[in-house]
Amino acid sequence: MTRTPLIAGNWKMVLDHQQGTLLVQKLDWTLKDAKHDHAAVEVAVLPPFTSLRTVQTLIEGDKLPIALGAQDVSAHESGAHTGEVSAAMLTKLGVRYVAVGHSERRQDHGEDDALVRAKTAKALEHGLVPIVCVGEPLEVRRAGEHVGHTVGQVTAALEGLQAAQVAGLVLAYEPVWAIGTGEVATPEDAQEVCEALRAAVAGQFDAETAAAVRVLYGGSVKPANIASIMAQPDVDGALVGGASTDAGDFAAIVRYREHPS
Ligand code: PGA
Repeated sequence: MTRTPLIAGNWKMVLDHQQGTLLVQKLDWTLKDAKHDHAAVEVAVLPPFTSLRTVQTLIEGDKLPIALGAQDVSAHESGAHTGEVSAAMLTKLGVRYVAVGHSERRQDHGEDDALVRAKTAKALEHGLVPIVCVGEPLEVRRAGEHVGHTVGQVTAALEGLQAAQVAGLVLAYEPVWAIGTGEVATPEDAQEVCEALRAAVAGQFDAETAAAVRVLYGGSVKPANIASIMAQPDVDGALVGGASTDAGDFAAIVRYREHPS
């Protein structure tokens, strides 16, 4: 089973639509200059909602080999939900990926496992590929309970789905203590949890589904640490925050296979 690595840039609430356009253009030029093979390592950007249309126009107009993603989606189909954005609206904008259950949503907006599950199911229903984010806070890591914690989050998010749906989605292990802190998990830390998440999918569904699901690592990923993280057998890519808002850094992360080991 070969899983195509995915490097996804989560811009968070950084870069307006003009800055986002410039970043995507520069990213594309840099990757073209470097003859990046997009079939070998897939690239996605997750701009804020207000930039999706502009970035879509650029990607589609110039036929850029970059996938478009969103940072969140409503669990509701449509209707009276002020401030929310539906899966159907995202699909219509050519969005392929959507982050669900990012720790900043869980922490700042009280999103629980039940809501993450509902959003995941809604995204799948509309043909989006959810990037289901899980991760433990520092006190859970210190207590040595990070595997149980993250496996519990994944199991809850995937409950009730079909194996074929799970095979096509993406999981992202993002230890909360490593997000935006410069505190990166060691490659072994990343591997330990990514392997456990895959095993949990095998237990909840089957071995074939577990072999197909892509598991990303996220948390202070930079050009200097990506290669050793990607060398881990159960890490299939990265969800990059801060470094994805710099075209040069993000392109360097995408090109991790060329880094000296
Ligand atoms: P970071 O964010 O790379 O800035 O640590 C990662 C994320 O939250 O997706």
